Amino acid sequence: MSMKLPFFKNKQTELHEDLESDNIPDHVAIIMDGNGRWAKKRGLPRIAGHKEGINSVNKVVRAANQYNVKVLTLYAFSTENWKRPKSEIEFLMKLPKEFLHIYLPELMENNVRIDTIGDFDALPQHTKKAVQYAKDKTKNNNGLLLNFALNYGSRLEIMRAIKQIMSDIDCSKISIDSLDEKIFSEYLYTQGLSDPDLLIRTSGEQRLSNFLLWQLAYTEFWFTDVLWPDFDEVIFKEALYEYQQRKRRYGGI
Ligand code: FPP
Repeated sequence: MSMKLPFFKNKQTELHEDLESDNIPDHVAIIMDGNGRWAKKRGLPRIAGHKEGINSVNKVVRAANQYNVKVLTLYAFSTENWKRPKSEIEFLMKLPKEFLHIYLPELMENNVRIDTIGDFDALPQHTKKAVQYAKDKTKNNNGLLLNFALNYGSRLEIMRAIKQIMSDIDCSKISIDSLDEKIFSEYLYTQGLSDPDLLIRTSGEQRLSNFLLWQLAYTEFWFTDVLWPDFDEVIFKEALYEYQQRKRRYGGI
């Protein structure tokens, strides 16, 4: 005879049960780190950690949706990640397709829109095709924006913006005098998006790794030792709870 077991809530969930619904970060950015270490701890190849990381992406998307986060920007592949072994890069480039194959129906159901930041054109054809399909399919969804940073590097983004601005000044599209922070932001991949309110980095590393250098000027940072494949709704909630304890002053008092 089967018996229903009592449902024990995770201690942390209970502790952070009451998130203030009017103080949810609009934009959360995450540096998903620690896939390789997660795999190594289990005697598995590094790619096993990346594969498992897909499930954490889905968990965090679900949670972000539930809490009414507007934008979730995930650092999936940096311009520096091309330095990795060819076989690992090939595997990483297949992940978007794999993720979308499993989760696109659920993303559609939950009204999630998919977009990317970074040098999209330089991605392999098969990666572009899978991601472009998802972008097109979800383009009319108006729920959470799931924004993948794919082949993204902040310095490259800033250089690209400067070149475009200089060219627009050259052909009198804009004037030097009119150039301000707001206009500069329009030249970045994140054009039209609010800056992240909260940045999460997993795996215990505490650096930015060329991620959103301009956009993170006033962002709250939250670091956890949890490795990305172990990241889940409970830890995400903990991050939101910690965010809600912060006083954001933007340089004021
Ligand atoms: C960093 O861990 C992680 C990455 C470079 C890849 C991130 C990709 C995913 C989490 C998969 C999901 C992606 C999509 C597009 C759905 P690491 O390899 O640097 O880990 P380590 O520091 O422990 O070696």
